Amino acid sequence: MNEEIPNLTAFNEAALDLAFAQLEGQARGAATAIDGEEGVEAFRLQWLGRKQGRLKEVQDRWLKAAPGEAKKPLGVRFNAFKELVERLLDEAVGEGPRDAALKAEVIDITLPGTRRLTGAEHPITRTLNEIVGVFAALGYSVGVGPEVETDYYNFECMNFPPGHPARDTQDTLVVAGQDRRPQRDRLLMRTHTSPVQMRTMESQPPPVRIVIPGKVHRNDATDATHSPIFHQVEGLCVDTNITFSDLKGTLDHGMKALFGSAVKTRFFPSFFPFTEPSADVQISCIFCGGKGCRKCKNSGWIELLGCGMVDPAVFAFAAEKQPAYDPKKISGFAFGMGVERIAMMKYGVSEIGQFYAGDMRFLDQFV
Ligand code: PHE
Repeated sequence: MNEEIPNLTAFNEAALDLAFAQLEGQARGAATAIDGEEGVEAFRLQWLGRKQGRLKEVQDRWLKAAPGEAKKPLGVRFNAFKELVERLLDEAVGEGPRDAALKAEVIDITLPGTRRLTGAEHPITRTLNEIVGVFAALGYSVGVGPEVETDYYNFECMNFPPGHPARDTQDTLVVAGQDRRPQRDRLLMRTHTSPVQMRTMESQPPPVRIVIPGKVHRNDATDATHSPIFHQVEGLCVDTNITFSDLKGTLDHGMKALFGSAVKTRFFPSFFPFTEPSADVQISCIFCGGKGCRKCKNSGWIELLGCGMVDPAVFAFAAEKQPAYDPKKISGFAFGMGVERIAMMKYGVSEIGQFYAGDMRFLDQFV
């Protein structure tokens, strides 16, 4: 290993190749024999040592003695060989015990990072926003009202007089200890978003185009499709010459925007105290395309929302504060839809309770 570097007698390509091949063989042999940290240092000194290293000796003996035209090819080979020796040294260092300790600490940048849960919109919120967005695109503004409402706004001004049987269909929780108040001022949990129709009209003259999303409460037993607390989106449009055709066109567009352009709508006579005439809107079954299936009870149609032309009696209540709501001069329509019902249809959810259970296995599907 410590053989002397021989002097070069010839400087042609073949002679240089041979000479460097021998050197490389010696260097590789020495590198494989390295054992431990001291071995690494010995190798470094032996080959790269400034004063007695073999590379220094090669420089002295070969480069200096080379005739002019041989200096360049010799220099190229020398540099390549020096790089090789340095690489061998690096590799030897890489296998040393110090390096093993370092390696154990090293961070594997190819590992996936710690995932942060970013959360997502709840399917009810998402559906609610989507419905609101459909009407916002038609120029409707968005309003809200209180969830704890007076008897007057929830019932009386919506044309449910005290004792009216339609009140029974919207039984709710009432706030306790108000017996001394007049009935119209008594507080209850609102049963629909319709009271915000009146709050809106009282606060601004016509024209009005507004959608009102919100939470409502009813004394309903929980089952697969009913919950005592749920969400509605209300709509109200009041202007001169608003007709039932406007109502039909608006809701037909709205249902197509929500469920796809293939959906058809039909309007069935119905009753609400605050609209006249009133209708229930049915859409062609989105599951079977109208042919008839279990979901639509073989009828091909699914009932989705209530609507109608604003009853003149409602305008009369509004006119107490805003005289411009004169039923002889203006007309309007209103509609109200259940957000849970629409979300269940859109996402194929068969149990309303899934929306409130907070089960991540359910919610993760909407991320
Ligand atoms: N408020 C009614 C309900 O909760 C829905 C509705 C709103 C019907 C507006 C007609 C017009 O059932």
